[in-house]
Amino acid sequence: MAREESARRIERDIETLAGPDYTLSKEAIRRYAYTPVYRNTLAYFTKELEELGFEVEQDPVGTLVARNRPKGEAVFGIGSHCDSNRNGGRYDGTMGVVTALEVCRLNSELGYGLPLQLISWLEEEGSGFGQMLLGSRIMAQRVTEEDLRERFRAIDDGRSFWEHAEEAGYQPERWRECAHVIDDLTGWIEMHIEQARVLQDTGNRIGLVTAIAGYVHADVRVHGRGDHAGATPMDFRLDPTLSLAETIVELERLAREAGKGTVGTVGEIEVDPGIINAIASRVRFSLDIRGPDDEAYGGVAREIAAFAEEAAGRRGMRAEYAERQTLPATPMDGRILDALEAAARATGEPYMRMHSGAAHDTMCVADRIPCAMVFVPCKDGISHHPAEDASPADAALAAEIILEAIRALS
Ligand code: HGY
Ligand code: MN
Ligand code: MN
Repeated sequence: MAREESARRIERDIETLAGPDYTLSKEAIRRYAYTPVYRNTLAYFTKELEELGFEVEQDPVGTLVARNRPKGEAVFGIGSHCDSNRNGGRYDGTMGVVTALEVCRLNSELGYGLPLQLISWLEEEGSGFGQMLLGSRIMAQRVTEEDLRERFRAIDDGRSFWEHAEEAGYQPERWRECAHVIDDLTGWIEMHIEQARVLQDTGNRIGLVTAIAGYVHADVRVHGRGDHAGATPMDFRLDPTLSLAETIVELERLAREAGKGTVGTVGEIEVDPGIINAIASRVRFSLDIRGPDDEAYGGVAREIAAFAEEAAGRRGMRAEYAERQTLPATPMDGRILDALEAAARATGEPYMRMHSGAAHDTMCVADRIPCAMVFVPCKDGISHHPAEDASPADAALAAEIILEAIRALS
């Protein structure tokens, strides 16, 4: 049965890409732009796709683009990302690219001969430079040259994206040409694990994504005074961790009050100098504020920025809010969704329509091309964690649905 064969191949691909040549960490999957393990991952997909007769290249900064038609001919786009969160699992992103690869295999085995272009976007997770969806934002020209040359800096060594790209043999000076990566696409479908537990808890095997939540990423820096933790009386302190604590609790209150699926997270906290017997002189913390309703989560971002500055000011300190990036909530294309729904219904397997709380490269493609996404369950919703788990059989089902939908749309 084709689906079992697909599941076997998907499982083999996932297991291989979880091996030591493809991750910097033994405890988690950790791979990101311009590392040898990421280069190995792209080489794996390149080999598999070339064996299928695809023409494989990379755009000027390293997004992988594989086509079974010459440039200029209309193709349907499929893919995702194969970089990982720094504490990643083996399925986030990678299972989407592997499933797209399986669609390419089925297309040739079944003799459909559909025109396809597989894309694996650079730096979706932001693990290299702290900038999520970097490869697809470069394609969408949602960055500036100054960002790439100066502002976007490597988490590992503080050097610029530009320097790292050049050193890795890419041509960042041609970054504007990345816009052409999707010129020939007639449509785009990304498969991804759900990264929450709605599908699992409702007994569905397939999620048809209707919209992707928008987000604001920002940093707040609070400047206090680094004094002695023992000798400094409580009335003589300028302790930035106090306004940090107030802001985290306020973010939760604002997100709950906004409702409409709004969420707020402080994921990164840096305390300087970060030693037990010294009052912090400075703290930096990140803000990740998202939701399907731009007004709702945008309002929370504005209010928490004002709160952080006021909370610091009240204690005689100064806080600076700096937005890192933002992308709007993105609706998916009705016609592609309907084709996916018809293909899902034809399998007789349980599916549902749903929105995506996680961000995806599809948000940047949707600017210009009709898009949709297909989710599969991941165990207990665990993601951005090495315990992430998903089923190759569900991915095989998704591959079949995607292939049949593309066939119906072509
Ligand atoms: O965080 C996200 O939304 C994505 O998984 N990088
Ligand atoms: Mn992802
Ligand atoms: Mn992710």
